[in-house]
Amino acid sequence: MQLNAPLDMHLHLRDGEMLENIATASAHTFSGAIIMPNLVPPVTTKEEVLAYKNRILAAIGDEKFTPYMTLFFNPNYTKEFLASVKNEITAVKLYPAGITTNSEGGVSGFDVEELRPALEALSDLNIPLCVHGETNGFVMDREAEFVTIYEKLATAFPKLKIIMEHITTKESVTALDRFENLYATITIHHLLITLDDVAGGMLKPHLFCKPIAKRPEDRDALLNVALKAHPKVMFGSDSAPHPKHAKEACGCAAGVFTAPIALQLLAELFENHHASIDNLQNFISNNAQTIYGVTPLQKTVILEKKPFMVPLDYHGVVPMYAGEKIAYSIKEVTHT
Ligand code: NCD
Ligand code: ZN
Repeated sequence: MQLNAPLDMHLHLRDGEMLENIATASAHTFSGAIIMPNLVPPVTTKEEVLAYKNRILAAIGDEKFTPYMTLFFNPNYTKEFLASVKNEITAVKLYPAGITTNSEGGVSGFDVEELRPALEALSDLNIPLCVHGETNGFVMDREAEFVTIYEKLATAFPKLKIIMEHITTKESVTALDRFENLYATITIHHLLITLDDVAGGMLKPHLFCKPIAKRPEDRDALLNVALKAHPKVMFGSDSAPHPKHAKEACGCAAGVFTAPIALQLLAELFENHHASIDNLQNFISNNAQTIYGVTPLQKTVILEKKPFMVPLDYHGVVPMYAGEKIAYSIKEVTHT
């Protein structure tokens, strides 16, 4: 099975030692990725974007990989500032305040008039807005409740490309078709697991993430659009590494680490559901190229149906399915 120019449209690469340890897990098999800005402190200036990009390029060594950089949204961003940074970024990421890892500086209230200057500037400059769509309501309802905010934003800023990040619910899936300017990323873990896998038996901290995995009917709705490669959905792993001690703790950090096994799991998933390789190609790259208008560097990944034993950890980060066998392996990666 061959995939061309895989793209990960939602990735956490972190910084410092963690970045140095895990960057190649994505850079080896993906042509590029949208890099999340939720560092401590978050990425909010042109200088920080450029410096972070350079640290990423240093961390990936000889791998061929494009980090598509993002800024952490702030309602005070001016059009002048956004225009000055436009060439260095691919998107801006909006977090509701305090909703997930390192999001304390995010938005509260979602008052359209308060957000208007910054969001109109993004719209005019044709910079997509990636959104972590959760309210601070009951944990299972947070994303469905946020759909009304997506609708408000999509209506108020009809030319702004809004990407509903890591969607987990049937409500988000149906919103896609109601608004021309709404798009979505979907993770591999939300296509595979439900809340039962996280907390239905013994608690599985390495499957705990934001948004939390939902109900079987939600997963089915996600599978339906991913397997047919609905043109408005793209793969975004939301691979979010945390050290083992931060996950296996009283107070488990949110985030699932899937970067090294994402393509293998997607190959198996599409095969199990009898979905075509063309659909997988569209889901993993072509849809994202169209939505974002990016031309990724050429990389070809050959996968083979040979069991792969997922390592127990990668430099102290425990991946999804650690110590378990998955059906596909990476056979070869080439680039031109
Ligand atoms: C992410 C992280 O750890 O940075 N965690 C997660 O559970 N997905 C942040 C995020 O994307 O919500
Ligand atoms: Zn994320």
